[in-house]
Amino acid sequence: MNKSILITGSTSGIGRAATTEFAAHGYRVFATYRSDVHRAELASIDNVHPIHMDVTDAGDLERAYATIAAEIGEDGLYAVLNNAGITHSAPFEFLEERRMREVMEVNVMAPYRLTQTFIPLLVAHNKGNHVKARVVNVASWAGLMAAPFIAPYNASKFAVVGLTESMFYDLRLLDIHTVLAIPGLTKTPLLAKTTGAGAASLNAMPAEGRARYQNLFDHYASMSASSADLPMLATPEKVAHKLRRIVDKPKPRFKNHLGVDASLVDHVMTRLPWAARVAMNNRMYKLSSTRA
Ligand SMILES: NC(=O)c1ccc[n+]([C@@H]2O[C@H](COP(=O)([O-])OP(=O)(O)OC[C@H]3O[C@@H](n4cnc5c(N)ncnc54)[C@H](OP(=O)(O)O)[C@@H]3O)[C@@H](O)[C@H]2O)c1
Repeated sequence: MNKSILITGSTSGIGRAATTEFAAHGYRVFATYRSDVHRAELASIDNVHPIHMDVTDAGDLERAYATIAAEIGEDGLYAVLNNAGITHSAPFEFLEERRMREVMEVNVMAPYRLTQTFIPLLVAHNKGNHVKARVVNVASWAGLMAAPFIAPYNASKFAVVGLTESMFYDLRLLDIHTVLAIPGLTKTPLLAKTTGAGAASLNAMPAEGRARYQNLFDHYASMSASSADLPMLATPEKVAHKLRRIVDKPKPRFKNHLGVDASLVDHVMTRLPWAARVAMNNRMYKLSSTRA
């Protein structure tokens, strides 16, 4: 029997690499996409079953459940990988509520809703299998330590960490493992999407706001661009490989860092005295230079 896994956000970055990685290792992968342009490409990979799903759309979720349940029958679902995620970047003063809600919907509400929907298929897997089903939530270093201008992303990823920790206890009652996966900076399109959102926020501001934030955002954009070129940056393939090794384990650990930087943030940066953290961010983001 093939193990089945549902991966959200399979069209880009970590989710795309995970789709290839799991499929290449014999998993039957239900890979979600939103735009039809990605369907054929996903369908061309052996063991991959494309599933149309906007993770914020309850109808898509219901249809996906019906399709997957019909396909896997009594085998059930071995794993769910809640990977789909978005970011937004704006100075808090000009952060639009709709953006805040959008990020929370995709990054927090979706893993909650999707996992709850698929519980019956995870439980079905557990019947007759001594290696139990598992849910992996992809958080971020940004769920452990905040940074300027990404309040929605920070808020959502801190929420994912809390959500996942609580799920650990509740799903254990159903014999389902819950796993928190924490990538560090990873070379995916998400990085450019963050700076792109920052530039769009800046353009939408009144002149007074642009005057206040232009230099900071120019610096932020160049910092992001140069960090995207860092040779030590994890590749999505490397992160996907780690995810597959975690999901392969009969009893996966709860918390898993997927990059040295994620581990550094967790074990070192979050333990720095507050003043040292502020000084570090002031310096990195050139914040103090703009203080009135
Ligand atoms: N890259 C990093 O440095 C980094 C660091 C830490 C954590 N992470 C986390 O890793 C996960 C994957 O990020 P990534 O870097 O691979 O990003 P990415 O390249 O931007 O890919 C994001 C994926 O999520 C999908 N998605 C977005 N909104 C969706 C929605 N409403 N419904 C369904 N799918 C949706 C996208 O689909 P479309 O193609 O349709 O847009 C895409 O497939 C995210 O949870 C992210 O927060 C990334």
